[in-house]
Amino acid sequence: MGMKVLVTGGCGYIGSHTSVALLQAGFAVVLFDNLSNSTSAVLGPIARLGGPKVTLVQGDVRQPDDLAQVFADHRFDAVIHFAGLKAVSESVQVPLNYYEHNVSGTLQLLRAMDVAGVRRLVFSSSATVYAEDAACPLNESAALDATNPYGRSKLMCEQLLCDVQAADPRWQVAVLRYFNPVGAHPSGEMGELPIGVPQNLMPMITQATKGLRPHLSIFGDDYPTPDGTAVRDYIHVQDLAAGHVAALAYMAHQDKGLTVNLGTGRGVSVKEMIDTFERVNAVQVPYRWAARRAGDVAVRFADVGLAQQLMGWRAQLSLDEMCRDAWRWQTTGAGAP
Ligand SMILES: NC(=O)c1ccc[n+]([C@@H]2O[C@H](COP(=O)([O-])OP(=O)(O)OC[C@H]3O[C@@H](n4cnc5c(N)ncnc54)[C@H](O)[C@@H]3O)[C@@H](O)[C@H]2O)c1
Repeated sequence: MGMKVLVTGGCGYIGSHTSVALLQAGFAVVLFDNLSNSTSAVLGPIARLGGPKVTLVQGDVRQPDDLAQVFADHRFDAVIHFAGLKAVSESVQVPLNYYEHNVSGTLQLLRAMDVAGVRRLVFSSSATVYAEDAACPLNESAALDATNPYGRSKLMCEQLLCDVQAADPRWQVAVLRYFNPVGAHPSGEMGELPIGVPQNLMPMITQATKGLRPHLSIFGDDYPTPDGTAVRDYIHVQDLAAGHVAALAYMAHQDKGLTVNLGTGRGVSVKEMIDTFERVNAVQVPYRWAARRAGDVAVRFADVGLAQQLMGWRAQLSLDEMCRDAWRWQTTGAGAP
């Protein structure tokens, strides 16, 4: 295609996998990252797996000068905006940081894009924007209402993007609401590098199984689900990456934006995830039962019909592959401490 894409937060977990998918689809890629939650070492695997048309610019989306420079140095066809903070519990403690990185950062990016005349954007949103009591499967028109600063920062960005598109039809924005990204590149060369105690189930499983944590806690055994544990929609990060390429193709062909869920459409319980991980990797996950966590809902999974209908995209990879690839990364990749 010969197009060039700016990928903010491109050194991070989802950004790195998406960058490989973009390179493989023929895009040139400029990663723009302040490396606050990643390292520049990921550039090697991205180029090895995707191809050489990738460069890294160290910069911060909150800094207009950093953005002006990258848009002055390159002519982009589109931007994919991953950069930001993502830990729900941390967002409750330091909300200003979340609004600054996620909302102000998005605002600065939109300004810089507007000045540069680049008005095609893919935005990383999240299933956390859906109201807690919205019925599953969650479709895109379900009620929106975030319950923590992280979710609210995403919701504010969605509203901002909606207003910008309404005001100027030259803007095209694909809002992608991710469910629960897990897994790693099947090569074992790229994956998630959580800093500190992991907040999510899969990195907790891999680290506890590796002996880096004493055990994993399963929060709640009395939810109204078949085995009593909470149910979520886990999606392989490789499928998520492909979803971004599909969103760019959609905007190029349809000349308009969209808002879609990216999930598998299948709910998986915490216990099913652990059982699957143990089976496919022939390991034992050390776990303990613990009380429910405040704010956790019993069941969340996506209606994925719209993404398939509009973009022709559908998650392909199974729970077995998610578990196998996550463990390979933990045991053999740079994820192995
Ligand atoms: N991983 C998930 O479970 C999940 C779920 C839903 C949505 N998302 C969203 O997807 C996006 C990517 O998530 P991820 O899991 O890859 O996170 P990540 O932390 O691995 O990647 C984010 C990247 O952005 C960079 N960054 C942070 N603040 C920045 C700033 N101000 N300027 C420039 N770079 C900055 C970090 O260094 C990192 O490389 C985020 O916006 C996140 O909110 C993630």
